[in-house]
Amino acid sequence: MGRLVIVSNRVELPGARAGRAGGLAVALRDALHGTGGLWVGWSGEIASATSTEPHLLQSGPVQYATLDLGEDDHAQYYNGYCNGTLWPLLHYRLGLMEFRRETLEAYLRVNEAFAEAISRLLRADDLIWVHDFHLIPLAASLRSRGVANRIGLFLHTPFPPPEVFTTLPRYEILANALASYDLVGLQTEGDRVNLRRTIARHRQIAARADGDLDLGTRLLRLRAVPIGIDAAAVRNMAASMGRGPEGQRLLDSLGGRQLVLGVDRLDYSKGLPQRFEAFEHLLADFPEHRSKVTFMQIAPVSRGEVRQYRELRRELDRRAGRINGKFAEFDWTPLRYLNRSFGRHVLAGFYRHARVGLVTPLRDGMNLVAKEWVAAQEAADPGALVLSRFAGAAYELSDALLVNPLDADAMAEALHRALTMPAEERRERWQSMMRSVSDNSVIAWRETFLRLLEPASAPVLA
Ligand code: ADP
Ligand code: F6P
Repeated sequence: MGRLVIVSNRVELPGARAGRAGGLAVALRDALHGTGGLWVGWSGEIASATSTEPHLLQSGPVQYATLDLGEDDHAQYYNGYCNGTLWPLLHYRLGLMEFRRETLEAYLRVNEAFAEAISRLLRADDLIWVHDFHLIPLAASLRSRGVANRIGLFLHTPFPPPEVFTTLPRYEILANALASYDLVGLQTEGDRVNLRRTIARHRQIAARADGDLDLGTRLLRLRAVPIGIDAAAVRNMAASMGRGPEGQRLLDSLGGRQLVLGVDRLDYSKGLPQRFEAFEHLLADFPEHRSKVTFMQIAPVSRGEVRQYRELRRELDRRAGRINGKFAEFDWTPLRYLNRSFGRHVLAGFYRHARVGLVTPLRDGMNLVAKEWVAAQEAADPGALVLSRFAGAAYELSDALLVNPLDADAMAEALHRALTMPAEERRERWQSMMRSVSDNSVIAWRETFLRLLEPASAPVLA
């Protein structure tokens, strides 16, 4: 196999403090660790103009090449088109989607800059693996520079049906860009069908029996390759960190109460207001849990310059204050709401102490927190997972208590059920979830995707 070149907007540079909250960086770091290779992306720095001269850094088997974003591009490409247009679109939130021509132009411009920088670093047999919605046009930009390498894209987000996708003004640009890859990997079969229908309709072609698309000169492979975690690493961290200083302090602070835990970036796709509301319903409708349960929601601020995210933060501040004002006792605070991130080790220790994992996005590509929570549980006495049907993880974790996050009463009932679930049932459900989390690891994900992308596996057109 040739050298692996990974390209993603967000890069986790070696030695970064506490780890950026975000599934993509965590997964790619784990995936690159084994193979080595080149990781190209945004440096996280804002300069006067976007550069095409990368900062280079070698760390063990991995070389990093990162680019600074110009101030305008950061505002228009990252905050504007990526987070103000594409993110809501891909999460089915048309009411939150904004469209401006300038931000689309910035998106295409930044992808050109990335392509320019990458094409100078490439070797002939490199396998290029692009990640996520920030860089959809990258393959087309590379092809226009004569790059003939195999190029794959993995989309970490959901992909909506064509009826939703085509509401994006000038969606044709993205539909054509998606068709410039050799392989597009998606989190679930549902996402794969949606993307296939979108491209097939746009190109006016029929899908082949295997679901791939024959574009005349090339075959576009579309595959569901669900992302995983390093379950053994999380399990080990959780076992040792549950007894570490922070884990122990958390346990002491609970005073024997059961812990319900949520861990998410502060993002409207995560269903946090609805989750707070469900907890309020639990305390109102099942008063036996008052003073017996603590709900801790960790939600570090994410994309804080984008209006919709600022508004969400204000709303959550209001709701958290209301819940505590209404139900707190002089010796019990029902909701602990923290806008900060923690190191992965500390988080693993926290997961271990949570009797209930509460993961209820309105829509989520996969949701790695759900998998991490499962891996962190103690085999002899695991907790129960309450999981949204609309997270990609629900395809694999069907033994969680699956809920519709828009139904606050049903969520409160599921929480009650989780908090009162007998140990035997918790063990049975957890064992089946743990098998799936261990089998579908981040390494299996990387290997499956790369096997499909390798030249040897390139299908021959009839
Ligand atoms: P997304 O990619 O949308 O943020 P995921 O659940 O797939 O959602 O991935 C989130 C990742 O970020 C997980 O690996 C999780 O451990 C990490 N993470 C989330 N919140 C925090 C936090 N407060 N501190 C540190 N890491 C976090
Ligand atoms: O996993 C989805 C994702 O959008 C990643 O692409 C991204 O790195 C992560 O969430 C966190 O978002 P951001 O990079 O905007 O902080």
